[in-house]
Amino acid sequence: MTGRLYLDTAAAAPVRREALEAAWPYLAGAFGNPSSHHEFGRGPAEALTDARARVAKVLGTRATDITFTSGGTEADNLAIIGMALGARTQSRAQAQGRAGTVAPPRRHIVTSPIEHEAVLASVEFLTRVHGFTVTEVAPASDGTVTPEALTAAIRPDTVLVSLGYANNEIGTVADIPTLARLAHEDGVLFHTDAVQAAGWLPLSGLGADALTLAGHKVGAPKGIGVAAIRARVPVEPLIHGGGQESGRRSGTENVALAVAFATALELAEAERVEAAARVRAIRDEFIAAVLAAVPGAFLTGSPDARTPNHASFCFPDTSGEAVLLELERLGVTASSGSACAVGSDEASHVLTALGIDAEVAQTSVRFTFPASITDEQGRRASEMLTTAASRLTQRYA
Ligand SMILES: Cc1ncc(COP(=O)(O)O)c(C=O)c1O
Repeated sequence: MTGRLYLDTAAAAPVRREALEAAWPYLAGAFGNPSSHHEFGRGPAEALTDARARVAKVLGTRATDITFTSGGTEADNLAIIGMALGARTQSRAQAQGRAGTVAPPRRHIVTSPIEHEAVLASVEFLTRVHGFTVTEVAPASDGTVTPEALTAAIRPDTVLVSLGYANNEIGTVADIPTLARLAHEDGVLFHTDAVQAAGWLPLSGLGADALTLAGHKVGAPKGIGVAAIRARVPVEPLIHGGGQESGRRSGTENVALAVAFATALELAEAERVEAAARVRAIRDEFIAAVLAAVPGAFLTGSPDARTPNHASFCFPDTSGEAVLLELERLGVTASSGSACAVGSDEASHVLTALGIDAEVAQTSVRFTFPASITDEQGRRASEMLTTAASRLTQRYA
């Protein structure tokens, strides 16, 4: 695979050697259970505490807010279902304590139709099984949820708002501090899925009650994620058992992957400002070259407020699948959108929610650059795409 250009880091970023090296002692010699009170448990317990503190520092939050999970999907489930049910349990308890004086539990959730499946399916579960209601705020055609639209959607019975920080398919970045503040003004909890923002956008000072991350987007191995949920917010756990992770997620902790995650996140954060500026310039040139070279191509998502490594297009005059195949032949790997739903040939729910015709949405191609991309590689990607497009245009003409 040497020489191939990998432009699908939104699906998985290359694993960092430092993350693996940091994890290795806890996969090999230091095998003890971090809950054990004897000598063998001590090292893993300290490593876990340290990893939690390091993640909290990057997020500008407290170590007690951090729950390690199996990935982004579980983190989203825990944040959304955990906080919604936690608030309900709390208000029931209050009602029992002070009969007649407490407002009925809030059971309305606000989200948007362009969220990741992990968010949408968690909300759907709450509506189907627990009788919550939901409002999906319609985003603008570039994927932006405006403050006005959010304010209009919040009701007196809204318990939680969940809006993504950076969209995985179209790269659009939300103004989380403003949206979180609006939710708080109405006493509503705010969650943001920051899986695609990590390593590219600031993760601290956002003002969210809960923020979720996945390790394999920042250079940790797959199978680790984080739900950072303020410790004072009641959370109903999804996994029950021995009470690990402050009772929020039972089960023996994956010490090695927690350490790998902390290491990868710290490195991604240390490189972030420099990488974002450099990659944004390469990405902008790539977008301009593609739009100039491919007849009918258009950018999806916001031209300005987007993650610096993200370029996504529809190619209505060709076929997205054909573009990808031709690029594969030329040594460039991209993707047709999200890799997060298994075996789906359907048009993207994100693009159709933005008003793009289902047939056109099926021609979408997403390029997400690694932080290591060079100017020369960026130019090569543009050239290859131009070559692929001209071969296909001849074929489709
Ligand atoms: C925005 C977003 N949220 C959640 C997830 C799910 O994360 P995981 O694959 O770790 O379960 C992804 C995966 O790509 C994602 O892009």
